[in-house]
Amino acid sequence: MERLDKILSNLGYGTRKEVKVMVKNGWVEVNGVTAKKSDMKIDTDNDIVVVDGEEINYREFVYIMMNKPAGYISATFDNYQDTVVDILDPELQAFEPFPVGRLDKDTVGLLLLTNDGKLNHRLISPKHHVDKVYFAEIDKSVNESDIRAFEAGITLEDGYECMPGKLEILSSDEHGAEVMVTIQEGKFHQVKRMFKTRGKEVVFLKRVEFGGLKLDETLPEGDYRELSNEELKVLRGEA
Ligand code: URA
Repeated sequence: MERLDKILSNLGYGTRKEVKVMVKNGWVEVNGVTAKKSDMKIDTDNDIVVVDGEEINYREFVYIMMNKPAGYISATFDNYQDTVVDILDPELQAFEPFPVGRLDKDTVGLLLLTNDGKLNHRLISPKHHVDKVYFAEIDKSVNESDIRAFEAGITLEDGYECMPGKLEILSSDEHGAEVMVTIQEGKFHQVKRMFKTRGKEVVFLKRVEFGGLKLDETLPEGDYRELSNEELKVLRGEA
């Protein structure tokens, strides 16, 4: 059981004070009856709460798939730069979601946002071996010896030894290459730094898959949607 004003303010309907006014004005109904007191107890499993004619959706967690656009940082707040959370509707922002791992400012593609700390931990901990798949454009040709180096585990310039990664060449010539990279870690600038050790530069990077979940290619860059239950099962390793 939870207090009505707490539920509504957590869902972004206003401060507790504002919710009190809404109740006083008769805008809130519980099980078809106008609520009288804003501190009344609600059974979130059974009671139906209607605000201004619309049934509320009480849930604790949100799970969002975003096709991240370039130019946004993977953070919840920044004084100077736009963040991926700034893109979300205020109703979703009210759940205080945060990005699961980070994509660089210039990287596009699949970014998950949630307020579920447990799922976040499962997805970003390298010991869970969650695959992250990237499409990358490289400034030079890519060859078999790069594939073998990725397989063996690249040592970054600071001495960090990466776990084995998978490199697949889609096309490659003297002008550059298009590749798919699969890694299970998320070190800062990892894919870019892996190629740097091979004397090559990533000129475009897009994440297309995360933990078995594929980017919904019908989502334009900068757009997002909530995950389906099926997709959530995939992320939790239940599918
Ligand atoms: N690797 C990078 O270099 N950048 C990203 O944004 C993600 C992986």
